[in-house]
Amino acid sequence: MKLVKLIANLGYGSRKDVTQLFRSGRITDADGEVLYADDVVAYETIRVDDEPLDPPPGLVLMMNKPLGVTCSRKDPGRLVYDLLPPRYSVRSPALSTVGRLDRDTSGLLLFTDDGALLHRIIAPKAQVTKVYEATLAQDLRGDEGQLFASGTLLLETEKEPLAPAVLDVLGPRHARLSVTEGRYHQVRRMFAAAGNHVESLQRISVGALALGDLPVGEWRALPPEEVVSIFAAAPDR
Ligand code: URA
Repeated sequence: MKLVKLIANLGYGSRKDVTQLFRSGRITDADGEVLYADDVVAYETIRVDDEPLDPPPGLVLMMNKPLGVTCSRKDPGRLVYDLLPPRYSVRSPALSTVGRLDRDTSGLLLFTDDGALLHRIIAPKAQVTKVYEATLAQDLRGDEGQLFASGTLLLETEKEPLAPAVLDVLGPRHARLSVTEGRYHQVRRMFAAAGNHVESLQRISVGALALGDLPVGEWRALPPEEVVSIFAAAPDR
């Protein structure tokens, strides 16, 4: 791909803007030598205003999503994309969230610009386990684990029962739920079906990729070995 198009696609501006960056000598190699639009150089050596280029397409990010921000491009209020560098919102191919977390759910949120990878992660047949920790309004009754594991729980307005899910009780009103699907408000609706109400919800892992100690509101790019871990079984807790 021509350098102008490549750099424009990373969100540095229109092709006209990027042509102007070349003309102004702001695009150089790692030694500070001015590059020209027709040069053929290795990606890693390109600098814009002395800074390395943003990562190339094939980008995968994880974020510790805060409460109160929406997984949308244009809802009113704060958006998850506002927590990323502005250039990341105008890249081509576009960077999208991998599924969604509710505005009132925090924790591990993935983004990618790789459509095939996105579908591999969210496809029900991929069986990627998502683990959530929930704080509940009422004490657990004791039969929720069996209900969620049954494979017969039918949520209101749905035609297909939920796939079996695993409940770990952490306290009278505190539980960890592992699910392999990503239905609308799934965890909240599961507890509602068991006569309870979720007061707070956090996603702590996707596959074997854990949120870890990533601070709330922060994000980082995933190296290939961590992307692969999304498809690995979550370790037993
Ligand atoms: N289930 C929910 O109810 N909400 C989320 O954000 C994710 C899973």
